[in-house]
Amino acid sequence: MIPQKTVQEILETAKIEDVIQDFVNLRRRGVNMIGLCPFHNEKTPSFTVSPAKNIFKCFGCGKAGDPAKFIMEHEHLSYPDSLRYLARKYRIEVQEVELTPEAVAQQQAEESIYILNEYARQFYQDQLFETDMGKSIGLSYFKGRGFREETIRKFGLGYAPNEYEAFVKKATQAGYKLDFLKKLGLASQYDKDFFRNRVMFTIFNLSGKPIAFAGRIMEKDAKAPKYINSPETEIYVKNKNLYGAFHAKTAIRKADECILVEGYTDVISLHQAGIENVVASSGTSLTEGQIALIKRFTPNIKILYDGDAAGVKAALRGLDMVLEQDMNVRVVLIPDGHDPDSYLQLVGATAFQAFIDEQAKDFILFKTNLLLAETKGDPVRKAGLVRDIVDSISRVPDPFKRSFYVKECARVMELEEEVLISETNKVVRQILQKRDDARRKKPEVKVNIVPEGDGEFPMEAPPEFEDYMPVVGPMEKQATGHEFQERDIARILVEAGGKIYDEKENMSVAEFVLGSIQDVLEDFDNESYKRIAKEALQLLLDKQPINTQYFIGHNDQVISELAVDLLHTPWEYSPGWAERELYLSSQKMPEENFNKDSLSALLQFKLRKIIRLCEKNQQQLKAVPSDDSSQLMRLLKVQMKLNEMRNEVMKQVGMVVLK
Ligand code: UTP
Ligand code: MN
Repeated sequence: MIPQKTVQEILETAKIEDVIQDFVNLRRRGVNMIGLCPFHNEKTPSFTVSPAKNIFKCFGCGKAGDPAKFIMEHEHLSYPDSLRYLARKYRIEVQEVELTPEAVAQQQAEESIYILNEYARQFYQDQLFETDMGKSIGLSYFKGRGFREETIRKFGLGYAPNEYEAFVKKATQAGYKLDFLKKLGLASQYDKDFFRNRVMFTIFNLSGKPIAFAGRIMEKDAKAPKYINSPETEIYVKNKNLYGAFHAKTAIRKADECILVEGYTDVISLHQAGIENVVASSGTSLTEGQIALIKRFTPNIKILYDGDAAGVKAALRGLDMVLEQDMNVRVVLIPDGHDPDSYLQLVGATAFQAFIDEQAKDFILFKTNLLLAETKGDPVRKAGLVRDIVDSISRVPDPFKRSFYVKECARVMELEEEVLISETNKVVRQILQKRDDARRKKPEVKVNIVPEGDGEFPMEAPPEFEDYMPVVGPMEKQATGHEFQERDIARILVEAGGKIYDEKENMSVAEFVLGSIQDVLEDFDNESYKRIAKEALQLLLDKQPINTQYFIGHNDQVISELAVDLLHTPWEYSPGWAERELYLSSQKMPEENFNKDSLSALLQFKLRKIIRLCEKNQQQLKAVPSDDSSQLMRLLKVQMKLNEMRNEVMKQVGMVVLK
């Protein structure tokens, strides 16, 4: 275990730009550095590094954190291991403090599990490739299914002979205790081989160590179960494991998508065909731990379903949980009677790839269509469907996505959008309320450096991480134009409009903000944000109090929905975040700093408007005929005036004037 003092030293020494430049090309931009994000595919850099704050943030995919967090994510290491990595880099000596006897025992236990499992994997592989029975029964079975030898080796496939003690004998002779074999499920309670006369699949953890096995029966229509599995151990926790994750992780990151199938053979088949970003839930429905695992690599899941309509419907129930994690879920139905493996074998890799690309449907829309077909116009059943769909939509944390779904689902179900909006908002409010209550109850989180569970998951990051990791969805899904600044302003009005901005002047935040932008209210790009601002202005003029509840409980659906949205995403840094650097560095928590926050939002807003005017003016300049000198002079004067204004505002924002 790393002593707390050393942890501190490592965190203080590690320079974010050094650490990242080992993997990513960075170039300076103002006080920050930018580069192409290593966590998602992009052509224009949105990966920003702030040496001053020693953090990174990608505005494309939202990943953010400190040097240790970067290494965790990039190298797929646990938190302690990423600290060890940094310690090596900076030559900081880590004198691991002595573990408690329990911790030592635990570590040794885990280590020996890996060793025995590796021994077993080798045994089953040797049986497959080196024995006559193995070759004639096991190997020919796999080959018959189209698996090439390199694939068989890569996935640790093997053969368990049809004998009672082949493995038990060999392993005990090699010095492994029988009790230990039993614990790992390699020996049965009667001291015999647990896996007999089956072809073997090794289950690896994320680092490629064998943690469990599955054995498949070879005869068709056998009475015994088709697959039998190792029991759970300290290192094999079924609901945190995804079969194939080790072989898929690089491809998942690269494709920025994870394909989810049901079976072991589906994974192997697709992988062999070049579709490597594939993992299996191993026949059960997706668990939270498995989603967390996928989310470390990509927010995009494509689920390939085989099976009948009833089965698919049941499976869809479990998916709302995935939506809550802000994952994008698409589904593909594999044609009747096939699973991904058999369908791939039937049509070939190219056609298969094309099929899953074309057929992939957004989960919520897919579910809506599927369930709608069943209601057959029955109004009672349709009402039930609305509840069901609303429940799914409400779980999507991203307000932009939510409103997209509301629109689309209303269209598909032939409903008024307003009906869905108000239903959705009701549920969103309930969710928010619940979360708020939970937050209040939550006890303080203690940082614990000992890795937990099977060591596959980084332990919870220290709570400080969360502070500067506002949830920001992919860039293109966010507001465009000046909407970000407008959104900031709307959010400030809703969240803190009634708060005191200046005690001496007895001025509220709303008065300050609206006082400065009243003249450009009509210039808002976004109609909804404009309405919020105007609504607040009206309250001011009517000398009515401005508070959050007013907006949330507003009769106008648009306003009440938007207010919920604005509060739902607690704090979003706009893409101008990098430019606001200096501003933000002097802030503690955005939520507590309404003054600076509003001023900053205002200046940003003004700046954008001025820059837009500059651009317009420059275009007009270009279009002026060269002989029209008076027009030219007029425009040039405007240009100078605009430049002056721009520089003035930039100075106030605290930015360096570059041009
Ligand atoms: P399937 O029955 O669809 O098997 O179960 P499969 O993966 O297509 O295998 P092949 O192609 O017939 O060889 C899907 C998954 O459910 C789990 C396994 O993880 C399997 O891959 N399963 C199934 C079991 O754990 N036990 C069983 O008895 C059956
Ligand atoms: Mn199959």
